[in-house]
Amino acid sequence: MCGIIGCAGRADETLDVLLTGLEGLEYRGYDSAGVALSNGDLSVCKREGEIERLQRAVGDASGLDGRVGIGHTRWSTHGPPSDQNAHPHTDCADEVAVVHNGIIENYADIRAELVERGHDFDSDTDSEVVPHLIEDSLAGGKSFEDAFRGAITRLEGSYALAAVSRDSEAILATRQDSPLVLGVGDEAAYLASDVPAFLDYTDRVVYLEDGEFARLESGSWTVSDSEGRLLDKSVAQVEWNAEETAKSGYDHYMLKEIHEQPRALRKCLRSRVDELTGTVDVAALADLNPSAVQFVAAGTSYHASLYGAQLLRDAGVPAQAFLSSEYATARPPVPDDALVVGVSQSGETADTLSALRTVQDSGRGIETLAMTNVVGSTAARECDRELLIRAGPEIGVAATKTFSSQVVAANLLSAAVSPQVDAREVVQALRDLSGQVQELLDSSRAEEVAEQFVDSEGYFFIGRGYHHPVALEGALKMKEITYKHAEGFPAGELKHGPLALVTAETPVFAVVTGDGEKATKTVGNVKEVEARDASVVAVTDGVSDAERYAEEVLEIPETHPRVAPVLANVQLQLVAYHVADKLGRSIDKPRNLAKSVTVE
Ligand code: AGP
Repeated sequence: MCGIIGCAGRADETLDVLLTGLEGLEYRGYDSAGVALSNGDLSVCKREGEIERLQRAVGDASGLDGRVGIGHTRWSTHGPPSDQNAHPHTDCADEVAVVHNGIIENYADIRAELVERGHDFDSDTDSEVVPHLIEDSLAGGKSFEDAFRGAITRLEGSYALAAVSRDSEAILATRQDSPLVLGVGDEAAYLASDVPAFLDYTDRVVYLEDGEFARLESGSWTVSDSEGRLLDKSVAQVEWNAEETAKSGYDHYMLKEIHEQPRALRKCLRSRVDELTGTVDVAALADLNPSAVQFVAAGTSYHASLYGAQLLRDAGVPAQAFLSSEYATARPPVPDDALVVGVSQSGETADTLSALRTVQDSGRGIETLAMTNVVGSTAARECDRELLIRAGPEIGVAATKTFSSQVVAANLLSAAVSPQVDAREVVQALRDLSGQVQELLDSSRAEEVAEQFVDSEGYFFIGRGYHHPVALEGALKMKEITYKHAEGFPAGELKHGPLALVTAETPVFAVVTGDGEKATKTVGNVKEVEARDASVVAVTDGVSDAERYAEEVLEIPETHPRVAPVLANVQLQLVAYHVADKLGRSIDKPRNLAKSVTVE
């Protein structure tokens, strides 16, 4: 998704800050990028393609400087990727430049009206109406700030917007349903859609709320409401540091983040569980006694939600997981006294926010909980409660460590809302998990398995019970970063259709742990595919006899059945990573995808 960076600082630094910031936003996914700086004149440089192209163009350009500047990475929605459609957009007189994230729903009407009044448009974007609206007001004698505020009153839809003007030393910004955060430095003020964009410069942040306006000048900032009244905003310190958002010697963020799981898992549990008593003590979950739990989430977070719902049902609490993109329109009945949990790594996924808002807007007082990785994210701020998964920054588009931490957080939630028969065992297993993941990372044969199957036509993933979400997640990871066909199924479903696709060219990854009924039945399914000449890769703790029918084995340590899915999933993350690496894919920024999906 699009990214915004802004800096009001020293003239000899601002351009560098913008370019570094754009690199820090790359992980969100983009197809073009640009910057605009103001120094009594307005200079704009923008290019389709990689940020490198923009950097070269900036190097060749003259007069690109100024104390204030804005930059943008664009992920196309209105109009294809091109130099013209890249942001910043300017008005007819090149007086103002604007960057925009989100979608302006009524842009066609505004554009028609502006064209009627003689404005010329350069791009296909919805965003370009904003500089022209500002230009209109400036021509009518308004100040830059009044013109900016006036333009905003015309917009319907979602936006994070920042603007600079040739005649002002300020950046003006506002937001509606799209994130924007200020960075507070000693001599500079920053603005971004996401903290990593300015984390090299400051870790002090101010979160902007919907409808608030920010004004940044060299080293100073103010936030006001829609009426222009100054607000007393608090400055928060983010825990992440610049090192955590660097690759630290790994070839890809994804691999780094896979290897960060032991630490992330420890952090998720720290000061939250008592091993001796098996009790869970999380302030955010105190006094929760819901009649039912509904999870809303997308992608990987949805898979963690499927796991969470199963966990709660097994603990006797009615629970369901919904795809957030369906929830707002399907409007499933929400029981009185239910808890609705939005699971979102970023806390900014538009579908998930929209699902949560349907609940919040129902007026029924249904409690909402954000299970998220990002302090101060929109979900965290809008929900009644927030359960931080504490995985640390995840830059790779493919979610890895956050899935594992979501699974652990789901266990904390389950323990908080329902007494567990085997609480001590579970807590012990959760505490041991970090070491077991490390053991697995040190010994995994995933790269050899990837080598063997890199040329396969497609991949199937099967599992039952808690391993069903793992099968789905294994397939999502594989297709997302290798661009090859992959499907995940509950193991028993294979014979109801997908089996027709199983051939010698389609390896089947079967997740089987323990020797209970589910394992026995899954081994039965393994035999079915083996009989059709498919290669089976057993992801197993070796307790059942799945290995007998498998061509390859990815071992996982024996543990509590609830915890085993995390271990199995780490093996599948590694397989997907190595297949993608061998195919030379863009692992951290897969084509067409974005880290934070801020449009519905
Ligand atoms: C998974 O690898 C993807 N990046 C994607 O499915 C992601 O999990 C989904 O977009 C939800 O994101 P969220 O957790 O930030 O809400």
